[in-house]
Amino acid sequence: MFLVTGATGDLGCSIVQQLCDQEILVRAFARLTSRYAQLEHRGAQIFIGDLTEKRDIEKACQGIQYIISTHSNPNDPLGVDYRSNIDLIDAAKANNVQHFVLISVLGTDRGYQDSPIFKAKREVEKYLESSGLNYTILRPSALASSLLPLAERFKQTGLYLLIGDAKNRTSVVSTDDIARIAIDSVFIEAANQKIIPVGGPEILAREDIYQIFSRVFNREAIVINLPLFLFDGLRGSLGLINSDLYQKLGTLRVLLGNEFFCTAEEIQNLEQLFSIKMESLESYIRRYLSS
Ligand SMILES: NC(=O)c1ccc[n+]([C@@H]2O[C@H](COP(=O)([O-])OP(=O)(O)OC[C@H]3O[C@@H](n4cnc5c(N)ncnc54)[C@H](OP(=O)(O)O)[C@@H]3O)[C@@H](O)[C@H]2O)c1
Repeated sequence: MFLVTGATGDLGCSIVQQLCDQEILVRAFARLTSRYAQLEHRGAQIFIGDLTEKRDIEKACQGIQYIISTHSNPNDPLGVDYRSNIDLIDAAKANNVQHFVLISVLGTDRGYQDSPIFKAKREVEKYLESSGLNYTILRPSALASSLLPLAERFKQTGLYLLIGDAKNRTSVVSTDDIARIAIDSVFIEAANQKIIPVGGPEILAREDIYQIFSRVFNREAIVINLPLFLFDGLRGSLGLINSDLYQKLGTLRVLLGNEFFCTAEEIQNLEQLFSIKMESLESYIRRYLSS
C-alpha cells in the first residue's frame, strides 16, 4: 500500500487518482478541514491527521510499503516542510517501508538563504539520502497546476502580471506527468537512490507563458510587467511592520529572481528512464481549461 501525504494538494491529488485508476491501494493523508471526499469516492483510504503531529505520522505509516511525500506549507516551513518530513522518514524506517519518494524543488542545492522552503527541502533531502532507505528525490521546476489560476484569470480578463525579468527561463512540468513519475519511481530500479530534476519538454521564457495563454484562449494579452525592485521595495516596507511576512515572501523572491529550468539532456534522460513523453504546458492548459 502507498501512503501519499499532501493528498489534497494539486500533485498529491493527481497521484492518488492515478493509483486508484490502477487499482493500487493507497492511503491518503488529509486534514479534517481539507476537501477529500473526491479521493474517498475514487477508492482511496482516507487517513485523517495533521502532519505536525508525530503520532499521526507514526499511525499513518503502519502497514505501508511506499511513501510519496508531496506536502508543503508556506505558512509553516519549519513544522511542515522540514520537521514532518524528518518524522515521516523516521516512521518509514521504523515500519520497514520499501521506498520513499520525496517531492523537493529544483534549485535546493543553490544555497538560497532567503527561502525557508528551499532550505527545509535541502535538509530533508540530506536526511533521506543518509537514512538507509531506498529513495527517489524528484526536483520539479514549476508545476503546471499552479498556473491554472493565472490561466483562468487570463481567460476572463486577458490580464497577465509578470514580476521581474520576462526573459527568465523555466520548464513547467505537467502535474499529471510528475505524478506518474513519482509512482513509477518505486518500481524502476534505476530511479533508486537518485535525485532527479523534473521539467516539461520545453524551456520557456516567462514571456512565453502569456503567449501560450493567448493562443489557448484566443485573446490578446494585457501584460503588466513590474520590475523586481518594486517587489523588493514593497517587501522591505512590509517587513518594517511585519517581519514574519517579510520572511514568508523570501521564497517568492527567490522564485521571481532566478531561473528554474531543466536542460534538454536532463529531459531526455527523464523521458528515457520513465518511458514517458513529457506533456507541454500548452497541452496541459488546453486539457484543463480550454472548453
Ligand atoms: N507548485 C509548484 O509550482 C511547485 C514547484 C516545485 C516544487 N513543488 C513542490 O511540490 C509539492 C506539491 O506541490 P502542490 O502545488 O501540489 O502543493 P499544494 O497544492 O499547495 O498542496 C499542499 C498539500 O500539503 C497539505 N498540508 C499542508 N500542511 C499540512 C499539515 N499540517 N498536515 C497535513 N497536510 C498538510 C495540504 O493540505 P490542505 O488541503 O489541508 O491544505 C495540501 O494537501 C510540494 O512539496 C511543493 O513544495 C511545487
